[in-house]
Amino acid sequence: MDTLHSIDKSRIPQHIAVIMDGNGRWAKERGQDRVYGHHEGVVSVRDIVNTCGEIGVQYLTLYAFSTENWNRPQEEVNALMELLVNTIRKEVEELKKNNVRLHVIGDFLSLPDICQKELNEAVEMTVMNTGLNLILALSYSSRWEIMEAAKKFAVDVQSGKADIDSLDDEQFAKYLTTSAFPDPELMIRTSGEHRISNYLLYQLAYAELYFTPVHWPDFRRENLLLAIQDYQQRERRFGKTSEQIQKNLTRHV
Ligand code: FPP
Repeated sequence: MDTLHSIDKSRIPQHIAVIMDGNGRWAKERGQDRVYGHHEGVVSVRDIVNTCGEIGVQYLTLYAFSTENWNRPQEEVNALMELLVNTIRKEVEELKKNNVRLHVIGDFLSLPDICQKELNEAVEMTVMNTGLNLILALSYSSRWEIMEAAKKFAVDVQSGKADIDSLDDEQFAKYLTTSAFPDPELMIRTSGEHRISNYLLYQLAYAELYFTPVHWPDFRRENLLLAIQDYQQRERRFGKTSEQIQKNLTRHV
């Protein structure tokens, strides 16, 4: 029996965001090349996608390649892009069968043509799926996203489509790449680093943060269930007092 039995099925986070960290260290610890760690990381991606689908998570966002990752050695960047293309090509039928809908956020046009083509096809092939929404953050960074949103808003103001005085946080969120998705309630980062690293800075405003020392290639179903169990023990206050939250809870029982 795994941790699933002790999880409240009615309080599964709707949206989980993940920073998949530690592939390189995992590989180095085994005397292997960093790219080997990324390959094993794909096995974890598959396992976590399947688990999220099974337990009813509706949105899973994975930080697969950041804007800053372009600065890695060229061989590693090439290997990651190749792995991405091959993985999408290999897994798309499985995604389709499992009712998973694929989305991509990030600076799409900065990706190599072959990646864009493969991703566009996979997004199109899964567009009718109604189960888990799998969102890949690729060539993504929050500051880039927020700057782009500010530019789009300025253009709308110039053309009279938007009005500065009526801008609020909900309206601004419509200019972000994540406009179609709810904010994540839970953000998981593997491999022991306690940072957000330019990831969904606007969207994670009220998310619960969960850090684990486990490297991404070792992060599997049971680790995800433990993270959700931990999340369910937190009190989400959104700036209110604990007493206010408790009163609301008893009112709803
Ligand atoms: C971070 O580990 C991981 C990445 C930058 C890439 C993540 C990519 C995958 C898991 C594979 C491709 C994914 C999909 C969705 C097909 P790191 O290299 O920074 O590890 P380190 O901190 O130990 O060096």
